[in-house]
Amino acid sequence: MLVRILFLLSLPALLIASNTMTNEKKPAVSIIPKPLSMKMGEGSFQLSKSTVVSYSGTSLEVQRIARDLAARLSSATGLQIPAAPSNETKGSKNLVQLKLVDGGGFGLEGYRLSVTPDEVKIEASGGAGMFYGVQTLVQLCPPEIEKSRATSGVSWSIPCVRIEDKPRFSWRGMHLDVGRHFFAKDSVKRYIDLLASYKMNVFHWHLTDDQGWRVEIKKYPRLTSVGAWRRETMMDCTPHGGFYTQDEIREVVAYAREKFITIVPEIEMPGHSLAALAAYPELSCSGGPFKVGTEWGVENDVFCPGNEKTFQFLEDVIDEVVPLFPGTFFHVGGDECPKVRWSNCKRCQERMAANGLKNEQELQSYFVKRIESILAKHGKRLIGWDEILEGGIAPRATVMSWRGIDGGIEAAKSGHDVVMSPTSHCYFDYYQAAAGEPKAIGGFLPIDTVYSYEPVPSNLTAEEAKHVLGAQGNVWTEWIPNFRQVEYMATTRIMALSEVVWSPKASRDFNDFMQRMTSQYKRLGYRDINFRVPTPQGAGGRVIMFHDTVAVLTNPVPGGTICYTTNGTDPTASASVYSKPLPINGDLTLKTMLVLPDGRTSNIVTTNFMRVDPTRNGVKFNYFEGEWAMLPDMNAMKPAKSGTVFDISLSSVPKRWDNYGLQFLCMLTIPVDGDYTFFLASDDGSKLYLDRSELLNNDGAHGMVEVSAKRSLTSGKHKLEVRYFQLSGAQDLSVSLEGPGLPKQPIPARLLSIN
Ligand code: ACM
Ligand code: ZN
Repeated sequence: MLVRILFLLSLPALLIASNTMTNEKKPAVSIIPKPLSMKMGEGSFQLSKSTVVSYSGTSLEVQRIARDLAARLSSATGLQIPAAPSNETKGSKNLVQLKLVDGGGFGLEGYRLSVTPDEVKIEASGGAGMFYGVQTLVQLCPPEIEKSRATSGVSWSIPCVRIEDKPRFSWRGMHLDVGRHFFAKDSVKRYIDLLASYKMNVFHWHLTDDQGWRVEIKKYPRLTSVGAWRRETMMDCTPHGGFYTQDEIREVVAYAREKFITIVPEIEMPGHSLAALAAYPELSCSGGPFKVGTEWGVENDVFCPGNEKTFQFLEDVIDEVVPLFPGTFFHVGGDECPKVRWSNCKRCQERMAANGLKNEQELQSYFVKRIESILAKHGKRLIGWDEILEGGIAPRATVMSWRGIDGGIEAAKSGHDVVMSPTSHCYFDYYQAAAGEPKAIGGFLPIDTVYSYEPVPSNLTAEEAKHVLGAQGNVWTEWIPNFRQVEYMATTRIMALSEVVWSPKASRDFNDFMQRMTSQYKRLGYRDINFRVPTPQGAGGRVIMFHDTVAVLTNPVPGGTICYTTNGTDPTASASVYSKPLPINGDLTLKTMLVLPDGRTSNIVTTNFMRVDPTRNGVKFNYFEGEWAMLPDMNAMKPAKSGTVFDISLSSVPKRWDNYGLQFLCMLTIPVDGDYTFFLASDDGSKLYLDRSELLNNDGAHGMVEVSAKRSLTSGKHKLEVRYFQLSGAQDLSVSLEGPGLPKQPIPARLLSIN
C-alpha cells in the first residue's frame, strides 16, 4: 500500500506546487456534469408564492416529473408551488414550464433549459430529457434546495442562463457489489438517487458472489436460506447476510425507472458461485459440501458445465430473474473462473469430448453460449466481464472490459458492443489518496485519474468506436462493510465519471471541475451524503530532508481551512490554522486536516519530516525477486539489487509490484537508556531482528497486521534488521518506535546509520 516519500534535496523543490484553486471567486453556476453548452444571462428568476410548475402534453412521465419538481420546490422553499397542465396556466407569470417538443435535436436524453427573469423553461422530447433538465435546474437553485426541510432566509433565485445539453454516451453506469456485503433496499435507493443527480443511467446490481446470494428465487429457496448468510468475514468475526425478496427488487426497479435508470442484474457464473454451491452442492464438479465464502479472492469450486442440472438450474433462475428487470441487458459475470475442477471432472471432460472443445477455455465459452441462447429466448442481451472473450465470444455478447482496455478493443474490433470499466480508471474500491485513507482493497485511483479517463481507445476506427456504449464505475465491497463507506468511496468519483460519460470530450477541464465541486460539497452535506472531503494538498507520507525546509500546503477547496498540529496529536477544527509555509527545522510530525465552511472535516493526513545527515545516515537494502508465502532465508540468497536509502519503507526502494522481498540492514542509535517499544506492521510478512536476535515475527502471507514488543535498551548503537516480502495485491511496511521522549512514530531516519 501507499506511503509517499519525497526526497527534498533543496528548498525550491517544495515550492513548485501551484495554487490555482484558492482565493478565486466562486462561480455563479456549477453544474456537474458540465452541459454541452451554456450561456449566462443577466439577472435571475425568483421562486415565489406565485410560481407554478406547468407541463404540456399528455405524458404521464412528464406529469410525474412536474409534480415531483413542484413538491421539491415547495418543501425546500416553504412556498406552496403547485403543478398544473399548461392549458390551465396560460397567461400566468412566474412559470416553471416543462414543455414537450418534437425533435429539437436533443435526442431522447437531451434538453434545453432557459431561465429568464420571467420564466424557467425546460424543453425535451420525452421523459428522460425532461428529467435531466430538472436535475440541472436543481443545481441552478440555491444549495438549500437539497434540504429535506424548508430553510428560511434564503433568496430563492435562479440565475438567468440558456443551456443546451445531451449526453455523449448511452451507457453511463455505476455498479454495486451487494454480494460481499449486503446493503438493504433503502441504501440501494439512496445509491440510485445519487446516480440520478449526476445523470448516470445504468445501475449494474452485482447480486451474487461467493460470499452471498442476494435475490430470492422461489424455485430454489436454499439460495437465500443458506446462500445469503455467511459465518464471518476476513474483516470481522460476525455473521453477515441478507437478500432482497422479489417484491423488494420490483420496488427498487420501479424506483430506478422513475429516475430513468435501467438496472442490469448480474448473476455470476460459472465462477464466483460458491454461495449457490453451498445451497446446491450437486451443481459443482465435486459434489461438495461447501460453506458460503468467508474469504475474499477467487474460489476454485464453480458451477459444473458437465452436468445438465447446472443448465436447468440456471435456466430456472433466469426465468425468475428476467421478469423482475425490464431492461435489455442481463449480466452473467464470467470473470475469474478457475478451471482446475473442470480439468479433473469426468463429466466436464466428457462434455468437452462430445462437443469437440479443445480446452477448458472453450468449455467456458460453451457455457456462456448456452446461457446466451437462454437469455435470447427472453429477448435479453448477454453482457459479461472480458473473460467471456476467452475460448470464443458468444455471438451477440456485449463485453465489459475491466482487465484494462484490451478486451474492449478486441470486442469492438470484432463487432461486439463494449462497456469500458478498466481497473485503472473505474474501480472505486481503490484508494482515493496516498495517505490518511481508511483501509481499502488496494490500488490507487484519485479523482483526477477518474476525471482523465477517455472511454474510446485511440486505436479504434470511427466505426469500431460506435461499439463503445460508454463507461462504468465499479464498487466492489470486500472492504466496504456499510453504506456510509460506499458513499465515501463512490460519491465524488461518480461525479468525476459523470462528466467523462456525459460531457463533450473537448470541454473537460479538471481544475474547472474541482471549482464546480466546491459548490457541490454543500449540497452533498445537506443530503447527508458521506462524501470524501479533499485533504490538504502537499501533505502525507515521509519527507527525508537534508536541510531546513518549509512545508507548503495547498487548500483544495476555496473557503476551506487547513488546521494542523505539530505535537503528534490529532488536529481538531480549533487547532492552528495554516496561513503560510511552515518552517521545518528538524524531525517533525505534521498532522493536517481540511475543514469545510460547513464544519465538515477531512481525514487527518500525517507527514513525517525526517532530518538526515547524508554523510552519517543511511540504511542498506537488499532486494530479491521471487514468490513466497513465508519469508525466505535472505542471507542465503543473491539479491537482484542492493543499495542505500535513508529509511525503512517500501516507497524508498525501487521494486516491482508483486513477488519480491526486501532486507533492510542498519545500526539504530538509541538516544538514552530506557524502555523502547518496536512496532512492525506489514502486508504481507515481515520480521524484525535487534542485535542479531529475532524481536518481532509478523511472517506469513496476510493483510495488514501489526505486532509489537518492548525492550530495555542502553544508549548507543544497536544492530537492526528488517525483512519483508510481498506476495500479491496490497502491500505495506511500517516500522515504528516509541520510547523516552519519543512518541510512537516511524523510526526517525536520523537514528539510522550503516555503520
Ligand atoms: C472483476 O473485477 N472481477 C470483474
Ligand atoms: Zn464438472
